[in-house]
Amino acid sequence: MSTSPLTCCINPSILSADFANLEAELARISNADAVHVDVMDNHFVPNLTLGLPVVARLQQVSPVPLDAHLMIADADRWAPLYADLGLASVTFHVEAAMAPIKLARELRARGSKAGMALRPATPVEPYLDMLPELDMLLLMTVEPGFGGQAFLDVVIPKIRRARAATEGAGIDLAIQVDGGITEETITRAAEAGANVFVAGSAVYGKPSPAEAIESLRANGQLAFTRDRAADNTPQD
Ligand code: DX5
Ligand code: ZN
Repeated sequence: MSTSPLTCCINPSILSADFANLEAELARISNADAVHVDVMDNHFVPNLTLGLPVVARLQQVSPVPLDAHLMIADADRWAPLYADLGLASVTFHVEAAMAPIKLARELRARGSKAGMALRPATPVEPYLDMLPELDMLLLMTVEPGFGGQAFLDVVIPKIRRARAATEGAGIDLAIQVDGGITEETITRAAEAGANVFVAGSAVYGKPSPAEAIESLRANGQLAFTRDRAADNTPQD
């Protein structure tokens, strides 16, 4: 039996949506758990997307909660301003934060869930003691910056170690993966312990984004629950 109350969530990334019709694009994913909003500043990553004014309008018109992924420098300064917009969750990169514990507390104090992201080559071990400060840990499964890249299997052991650490500490932390999530890779990520899945091309690249969401969620939930159940089976 699984004892984990964590559910499987599909957060489509609007990076793969039509930027000229964002309100209509949000309506196509109204069955999603949240919409993943990729904010890039051309400093932390070599790409530029959108910022506070656009995210503020998305927050007003979106049928689903906003999950902001800030791929920006000087996260300590900017992330709280995103929380002030009333977003459901705000995720900053640890590589861009001077004081990640202080920042996570500030996000929670402003009413957002606190997420922290790690690039693929950033180890999770230095941050294990601060996991209780977070609502979500984002383990990037591609180098941040662009949609449509191939899933990095090298990140799988890190997902497994992060989930083992949260289970060992009795914390129900959401573990999000972002980049290269498909019908196939979602199974491997979920088996390793991820339960929140960002998908750009695998949702918006399909004729029916809503059907793609349902299918991904079914695959992810099955693999996540199956593996948690196996882990929690008492050993005789
Ligand atoms: C990449 C972004 C991702 C991206 C995922 O830096 O953080 O959210 O949109 O796109 P896919 O699912 O196409 O890899
Ligand atoms: Zn993202």
